[in-house]
Amino acid sequence: MKTNSNTTHQRPRFGALRKWLPAGALALSGLFTGALAHAAASSADASLVKRGEYLARAADCIACHTSNKAQPYAGGVPFNLPFGTIYSTNITPDKTYGIGSLSDADFIGAVREGKSKDGKRLYPAMPYTSYTQLTDDDILAIRAYLRTIAPVGKPAPANTLGFPFNQRWAMVFWNLFNFDSGRFQPDPAKSAEWNRGAYLVGALAHCQECHTPRNFMQGLSSKSLAGAQLGNWTAYNVTPDPVAGIGGWSDAELIAYLRDGAAPGVANAAGPMAEVVENSTRFLSDQDLKAMATYLRTVPAQSNGAQGANQPRYGWGSPIQSVTALRSQPLTVLGGGGVADGRTLYNANCASCHGWQGTGVGGKDAGAYPSLMHNSSVGAPNADNLTMVVLHGVSRETNHGHMSMPAFEGELSDAEVATLVNFVTTQFGNPAATTDAAKVAKMR
Ligand code: HEC
Ligand code: HEC
Ligand code: HEC
Repeated sequence: MKTNSNTTHQRPRFGALRKWLPAGALALSGLFTGALAHAAASSADASLVKRGEYLARAADCIACHTSNKAQPYAGGVPFNLPFGTIYSTNITPDKTYGIGSLSDADFIGAVREGKSKDGKRLYPAMPYTSYTQLTDDDILAIRAYLRTIAPVGKPAPANTLGFPFNQRWAMVFWNLFNFDSGRFQPDPAKSAEWNRGAYLVGALAHCQECHTPRNFMQGLSSKSLAGAQLGNWTAYNVTPDPVAGIGGWSDAELIAYLRDGAAPGVANAAGPMAEVVENSTRFLSDQDLKAMATYLRTVPAQSNGAQGANQPRYGWGSPIQSVTALRSQPLTVLGGGGVADGRTLYNANCASCHGWQGTGVGGKDAGAYPSLMHNSSVGAPNADNLTMVVLHGVSRETNHGHMSMPAFEGELSDAEVATLVNFVTTQFGNPAATTDAAKVAKMR
């Protein structure tokens, strides 16, 4: 079965054409088919490049290999690891600083095995652990597309890793324990749609690289997609568990989330997930998004991350009479430490967009200001993502315009953010999710 192609190759049949040519035209026919073959070759190239562009988006190569939007794929994105910083490589076709001089085999080796041309082992910040499943055809289509990118003659900054992590040979041991080289094996017992979804989620879109908890060596654990902490963000459990995961989402909600970054009444995508939607999943066909949903429904349910909650993240929330309640209050808006109380902070900073009662504005329309009730980051058992949203805002390019919520890091003190976040989770979400000024200070 064919799991690797989005558009099918159409090879023109010259044999059939030649049959209809009169004998006298034979001499001409060589010329004629030559010209046609040339046209066909360049249209085959064009369709290969187009397919490669689609696949590169599905694989989100751009996210990690672009630090300056004016120079796509020129690398230099820093990955801050506990033991130092590594930078992604320039993968433009530049012969000196990019990958212009790599053979196809070298390129396949880098993407699928994590081996660079000179035999060095790549650090697994490059997700070859997922890309190892890719087919030759798909990798070469991505390569054909990357050849069309403007070459950038600039090296990526040098890594700053301390000993022993600067010892690339140590990766041999990491790979031994944490890396299984192997192509995607379609499961003949499952539908073509399921197999396509498995290939998209696991090989191309590498969803598990963020959503699967890691072992002590930073390798992926066996609890696939059970949720993981990425710095200050939680990449939630996206297995079919009805409380800890997304078992209660409809296919339409999951597809809307991946396409637009917003599934009204369920969740919105901020932070790293907003980038995934912006660079990658919003470009996928409805058919491919449906295939991903079909596959995600069938991965083993995991109960990680519920932290004792008895309803899903999106389940929480009831509106409050915020204004009325405020009016009935004596005006002691300054609480302990000179910090206004949560209700006041909410009304002053959030209510203009999310409504006095937290119900949002615009309902289920594209571009709506979302309700804070029935929103997974307000109902999550920890307040991390909500705090990050308040500090850093939301910025996401969508197929119907830019979604943005302002960042409040410059407006609110740590204590104010903490008070506000605790108010929001208590009023609209999961009251067990609390934070404090010290934690907010660390997350800034
Ligand atoms: C999650 C981040 C991430 C994604 C996604 C990603 N890369 Fe990388 N890639 C890196 C990093 C970081 C390095 C450098 C690793 C090192 O120095 O050990 C790298 C290295 C490479 C190299 C090695 C170049 C050399 O030195 O030989 C190639 C080729 C490459 N990436 C291609 C791709 C392609 C093609 C895609 C999409 C299919 C992709 N990368 C997606 C992070 C990423
Ligand atoms: C770069 C890391 C990263 C990658 C790759 C990634 N995610 Fe996410 N994902 C996150 C983070 C972080 C969140 C939380 C976002 C928020 O709170 O707004 C999230 C949220 C989600 C949610 C919403 C869950 C909820 O309850 O709110 C779904 C569904 C999801 N991701 C599915 C996927 C799928 C499918 C893929 C692969 C196409 C994927 N993610 C790839 C980091 C990532
Ligand atoms: C200028 C309008 C505006 C203001 C003011 C505003 N927001 Fe938002 N908010 C938005 C928009 C737009 C989004 C993104 C909607 C989307 O993702 O489609 C958003 C998203 C959110 C989300 C969902 C994020 C996620 O990952 O699920 C939360 C929670 C949130 N806002 C809370 C707040 C809080 C708390 C305040 C006050 C500090 C606030 N907002 C102030 C417009 C605003």
